[in-house]
Amino acid sequence: MTDNRQSDQWAAGRIAFVTGATSGFGAAFARRIARAGGKVIATGRRVERLESLAAEFSPGSVLIRPLDLGDTSAIKGVVEELPEAFAAIDLLFNNAGLALGLGKAPDASLADWDEMIATNIRALVHVTHAILPGMVARNRGHIVNLSSVAASYPYPGGNVYGATKAFVRQFSLNLRADLLGSAVKVSSVEPGMCETEFSQVRFKGDNKAAEAVYAGMRPLSADDVTDAVEALLRLPDHLNVNTIELMPVQQAFSPFAVSRDS
Ligand SMILES: NC(=O)c1ccc[n+]([C@@H]2O[C@H](COP(=O)([O-])OP(=O)(O)OC[C@H]3O[C@@H](n4cnc5c(N)ncnc54)[C@H](OP(=O)(O)O)[C@@H]3O)[C@@H](O)[C@H]2O)c1
Repeated sequence: MTDNRQSDQWAAGRIAFVTGATSGFGAAFARRIARAGGKVIATGRRVERLESLAAEFSPGSVLIRPLDLGDTSAIKGVVEELPEAFAAIDLLFNNAGLALGLGKAPDASLADWDEMIATNIRALVHVTHAILPGMVARNRGHIVNLSSVAASYPYPGGNVYGATKAFVRQFSLNLRADLLGSAVKVSSVEPGMCETEFSQVRFKGDNKAAEAVYAGMRPLSADDVTDAVEALLRLPDHLNVNTIELMPVQQAFSPFAVSRDS
């Protein structure tokens, strides 16, 4: 029985597969676990960022695998062809994802909707499908899926993005149902506003629009979210956190909107 609540060895011996390790939560989490003595398979499209991440650590601790999750046919091969020292993945950080646009549904781009579904849903289930059987066979592992407060709270312009995150949350809970009897854990992490490259991506490089999202308030940082994930990973084997929702103090919920005739 492991219980790492007070231990500085919480990451030792762990092998983490991280999607979206080039930026934001994925980059922060990859660094956190590698610094704490875990091994990381870092994936993403921006190869130079993967290379500089790996260069920060001793050889053998961060393995980089350039991967475009839009190409689901590549995912299984990456997992199956891992060197032996990285093959027994016991932590999957299913983090890569994006929001594109903030337009209301009638004005939204169908290509943006497709890309969000392909990355946030389709790729996430493909990565899970490739990695989960090994975890079950070893009876050891933790899948941490990046959902969002947008899974639970609708907002104008959140249409498909929020729906993809609701999928991630429900998929996480359904995995728990299927994994009853195994030691494999699943958690859905659901942050609110966090300043990463998320808004730059959402507004397609319009940095003014991205900065305006966080103007005059203190958003979460990638390290704040990583603190929450680390806390989950320190918990004893018998304890599964199903969902964890976190927000900046300066963010809350809207009242119901009402369209009035006059
Ligand atoms: N920031 C927030 O406010 C917030 C709040 C709630 C939930 N989230 C969720 O948290 C997750 C991480 O977001 P973040 O805030 O850290 O954003 P970010 O800084 O933009 O990072 C997104 C990561 O996803 C990767 N990615 C995107 N599309 C990909 C693709 N086709 N193939 C491979 N990798 C891809 C990116 O890597 P490459 O571009 O190098 O491929 C990047 O590493 C996302 O799922 C997001 O929906 C974010």
